[in-house]
Amino acid sequence: MPKLKIEGGNLLTGNIEISGSKNSAVALLPAAILCSSKSKILSVPKIRDIEYLLKILEVLNCKYEIKNQELEIDTTSLKNFPIPEDLSEQMRASYYFMGTLLARFHYAEISFPGGCVIGARPIDLHIKGFEALGAKVTLIKNKYIIEAEELTGAHIHLDFASVGATINIMLAASRAKGETIIENAAQEPEIVNVAEFLISAGCEITGAGTNKIRIMGRENLDNGEINVCPDRIEAATYIIMGALIGKNLCIKNLNLNHIESVLKKLSECGVSYETKENEVIISKCTKILPTSIVTETYPGFPTDIQPPFATLLTQANGISSILETIYESRFKYAESLKSMGAITITEQNLLTIKGHTKLTAQNLYVPDLRGGAALVLASLIAEGTSYLDNISLILRGYEDIVEKLTNVGAKIQIIE
Ligand code: UD1
Repeated sequence: MPKLKIEGGNLLTGNIEISGSKNSAVALLPAAILCSSKSKILSVPKIRDIEYLLKILEVLNCKYEIKNQELEIDTTSLKNFPIPEDLSEQMRASYYFMGTLLARFHYAEISFPGGCVIGARPIDLHIKGFEALGAKVTLIKNKYIIEAEELTGAHIHLDFASVGATINIMLAASRAKGETIIENAAQEPEIVNVAEFLISAGCEITGAGTNKIRIMGRENLDNGEINVCPDRIEAATYIIMGALIGKNLCIKNLNLNHIESVLKKLSECGVSYETKENEVIISKCTKILPTSIVTETYPGFPTDIQPPFATLLTQANGISSILETIYESRFKYAESLKSMGAITITEQNLLTIKGHTKLTAQNLYVPDLRGGAALVLASLIAEGTSYLDNISLILRGYEDIVEKLTNVGAKIQIIE
């Protein structure tokens, strides 16, 4: 199994270009099958999840061409087949084919999705949404069969502002008859990106990015085109890295509005940085102040960023806390930070960190994607050489992470 070898202690300087958002792209590829013949998705990140989604598109008889991260998808010969379990279990986002196959064929057969083990992650809100649109959902062992004679717009109130459920319902409703309203919708930028794609294909959508989205379904959608928005989680990860070990590190091609809550928290911690239109320039902060974080849905502090931020807080002078309100078990990485010398206490969904502590290199196991990012940052500031195992989870979400970090001076490599 390949491992990441990281030698800590080298200041990082130069530029890092942010890639297209993983969470947006993984919804846009399934959305492409809503188009009757063609669609185009630009700035597609080269990550594992995308490779698997392309394999699913092949199963569905789609043709595609990808050049310089521009993906053109031809859905003229699209056919409905059950999505094989060995593909759907590779990632969370395979569930978006539920919404899009239902919209196109009124029938979808797909196993329970995979994804990082950070909590129970049920999909009941997706299912309730499909049912509200007129679908019947049957679960046989691990497989969902979702079918409808007709999909009709509905008024749906989500019990929780779930990103996945909001997008999936929007996808299914895009070809339903009449108007769908999603109340208590999630407001993440990725939802706006998917809505823009659907609008470009001819769907009428208003309110994406607010808590009330209105979708007017269309019988036919086609020629959708979209530029995947910058990955705000990748951007925030590298900005935090800059605060830990940067020297005029410039993070480029990001959207400042999308990372406002993280930048605000960094300022609260005494970290200074310079911003330009779509970049942040940041250097190592030697006097980091402790803070308390509560993860929230957008525009609040993102749950995906609490793990890398925890690494930063091991270097803060004093006691910090992170209250995780979205997932039940997202502190697995904290044990690894402890093994490196951090002082951490985990009590259910509360993590307390006492800093500042020197970190020492270790052999580490990546528990999940963002926990892995926390351990990469910790290894970069630790004394000595760390070896990270189970790195495929990191490669699932961070495009060219080794190249990007090597380019700014990190000593990082994949070893077999
Ligand atoms: C998406 C992101 C993930 C991010 C998360 C929250 C993708 C592919 N993944 O995940 O990186 O961490 O948003 O920002 O975009 N829930 C239910 N029932 C449901 C759906 C969700 O109980 O039907 C719960 C989940 O278990 C979780 C919470 O709601 O506790 C948030 O989930 P959701 O917003 O749906 O996250 P995902 O779409 O899975």
